[in-house]
Amino acid sequence: MPFYRSTGEVPRKRHTQFRRPDGGLYAEELMGQEGFSSDASLLYHRHLPTAIVKAEPVDVPAAEQLAPNHPLLPRHFRTPTLPSGGDLVSDRQLLMANDDVRLSYVAADRSSELYRNATGDEVVYVQAGRARFESVYGALEAGEGDYVVIPTATTHRWVLEGGPPLHAMVIEARGHVRPPRRYLSQYGQFLEHAPYCERDLRGPAGPLLVDESETPVLVRHRAGLTRFTYLHHPFDVVGWDGCLYPYAFSIHDFEPIVKRVHMPPPTHQTFEGPNFVVCSFCPRPLDFDPQSVPVPYNHHNVDSDEMLFYVGGDYSARKGSGIGLGSVSLHPSGFTHGPQPGAVEASLGQHRTDELAVMVDTFRPLQLGPAARASEDPEYAWTWARGVEAREAGGSG
Ligand SMILES: [Fe+2]
Repeated sequence: MPFYRSTGEVPRKRHTQFRRPDGGLYAEELMGQEGFSSDASLLYHRHLPTAIVKAEPVDVPAAEQLAPNHPLLPRHFRTPTLPSGGDLVSDRQLLMANDDVRLSYVAADRSSELYRNATGDEVVYVQAGRARFESVYGALEAGEGDYVVIPTATTHRWVLEGGPPLHAMVIEARGHVRPPRRYLSQYGQFLEHAPYCERDLRGPAGPLLVDESETPVLVRHRAGLTRFTYLHHPFDVVGWDGCLYPYAFSIHDFEPIVKRVHMPPPTHQTFEGPNFVVCSFCPRPLDFDPQSVPVPYNHHNVDSDEMLFYVGGDYSARKGSGIGLGSVSLHPSGFTHGPQPGAVEASLGQHRTDELAVMVDTFRPLQLGPAARASEDPEYAWTWARGVEAREAGGSG
């Protein structure tokens, strides 16, 4: 994150003696990206953040197995048909993945254990429900429409206190997720043409202190999963400052950019990651030229696989496709996709859309996970041709 925050107690100068009330020294920790050459924060712990007493390997679940999209097909998955239950870390249901990013669905009904993903940043999009995201930086409340961006190796947990399950799409990057560079000044401030800005980002309220001894933390790393046991609970940070921390951004705070004729998805871009982008399709006025065609033209992004998660509103370009709330579509490179037959005509003269969707475009092909195979609508690939046939036969399409 590009801008500076300070929470709790920190010494006036970094790397100087900072003492606890009992006279001992706080333990200073730098969390930093790119080898001391990018964003970082300094955290002040009551105890040594290095003191582990145990490290145990944890089996990676079979649910992480992937298969290629072969034969190549546009696909539709119905997340509401996937099982509900479990927690937001251990019960992710893998929809698709490549070497850059993993996309999972989860319907959590209980709190997670402490977790740290050392392989990259995570973005959790909350489709429904509420949770408190607790981390070494403090806590933030997350609810419907929030993206929660979690920097690599942030120790955290998701706390659910009753209520309906929390439905979320989890985007796990192999690297760092940031606002699009073109929306930032050379020093990291959001520019005036950006669709959101600093005021829209909610940082953690801290400090969050838990006074417990031996505490397990599940760590995802390149070789798999390991559970460390720390001598003291990691939530012992009395203060921190810097430009690296988890934050929440509500999709409802995204300010759509519209034009007289159709605008392509880059105007909806919300984040960029290594070899993928995240876009937010939000309610907005439609194109205002009298001759405009408001739904997208057929398109073939030859370098992208496109995942779209339909989270609200009426998706007019997709009528007749079987797609509804909670659907996930995958339009891969090698296949031209576009509106279903009849959607273009139906859109003419419309002035507004209430669609709400989250898109992840990857620059390398996505493979399919077990949750994709379990929730697939096998008819989706043929809906364009069937719509044409229905219209030619005099049906509504
Ligand atoms: Fe598309």
